[in-house]
Amino acid sequence: MNSDCIHLPPFESLWKQRFRRRLLAWYARNARDLPWRRTTNPYRVWVSEVMLQQTQVETVKPYFQRFIREFPTVKKLAAADEQNVLRHWEGLGYYRRARQLHAAAQVIVTQHKGKFPREITTLQTLPGIGRYTAGAIASIAYDERVPILEANTIRLFARLIGYQQIPTTSTGQRILWQTAAEILPRKNIAQFNQGVMELGSLVCTPKNPRCSDCPVSALCAAREAGLQEEIPLQGPKKEFTHLYEAAVVVRKKGNILMRQCANGERWAGLWDFPRFELESEGDLYVHDELITKVLDQTGVRIKPEGLLKTIKHGVTRYRITLDCYEAIFTAGRISSTSKKRVCWLPMHELTDLPLSSTGRKIARLLERV
Ligand code: ADE
Repeated sequence: MNSDCIHLPPFESLWKQRFRRRLLAWYARNARDLPWRRTTNPYRVWVSEVMLQQTQVETVKPYFQRFIREFPTVKKLAAADEQNVLRHWEGLGYYRRARQLHAAAQVIVTQHKGKFPREITTLQTLPGIGRYTAGAIASIAYDERVPILEANTIRLFARLIGYQQIPTTSTGQRILWQTAAEILPRKNIAQFNQGVMELGSLVCTPKNPRCSDCPVSALCAAREAGLQEEIPLQGPKKEFTHLYEAAVVVRKKGNILMRQCANGERWAGLWDFPRFELESEGDLYVHDELITKVLDQTGVRIKPEGLLKTIKHGVTRYRITLDCYEAIFTAGRISSTSKKRVCWLPMHELTDLPLSSTGRKIARLLERV
């Protein structure tokens, strides 16, 4: 018996058999009817799994349906314009996922003749596909006997084996991947892997786990020790960084000044109003800083008019206070280079442009006034 674990792998075969049988029977009766579960097409499984990283099932549903309607095959996605791919991702966040999905589709077309790889080692060479996503595609689409471990299954397995350490450390990950591998049945892998995620998501929830509805509660070490609320242990709390930023709506004869975020910036590839961090405090200084920074980002001189709205939002570890100003064009020419794309656009063209989430909020605000 290990002090970190009440029930460490290797597991007894009777215990594993019970777990598998109960889990599969539960999933057969309780699986949600989700759009990506109506297929075993690897392309669709892949798109859904990438969208589901860091995003809730209910949020993903409409995005998945719109995305598949627009890019029904890996070839269509590979041939698509990146701007259109980003437009279909707009609002889901973590846009690197969309850029990597697009890049991986191009690799599949150019290096694999458009045929979706099946081997997890090959899948893991594609941009944005790590051990989890490769395991999910191989098991769900091809029924390959490979394990998966993601947020729901980390929690479920940590409780099942009574793991009383932080599960995200390398030791924790090694033990939990080993658990996920050992507990796999010989067949029905697609159903089994989706079943453990589903049980984690619907029953073995982060707060107030519903142990009385759980088909495997009698096999659960955390439940037996009354530790289901304590496990999994949380890692150190994330420190938030507060930022104070400005976005400027610059008008010139009915057009609006927009810029595309460059590589390396937050929201690379998406469009936004000129936007930057503010260093000044006090209206007088902010006024000068708006003029200097818009000139610097775009080549255009402005006269600030006033504050339109303050938006508070969070992106990864940042908590941002964004002051949105209005301004009018006074002089200067756009200084576009290959790295900096800036242009004047009529309001209605913002509809089809992929915008940052706050960029879209500001655009909607402008439509109303
Ligand atoms: N989270 C990640 N992948 C999932 C899936 N296939 N079903 C439900 N939740 C998930």
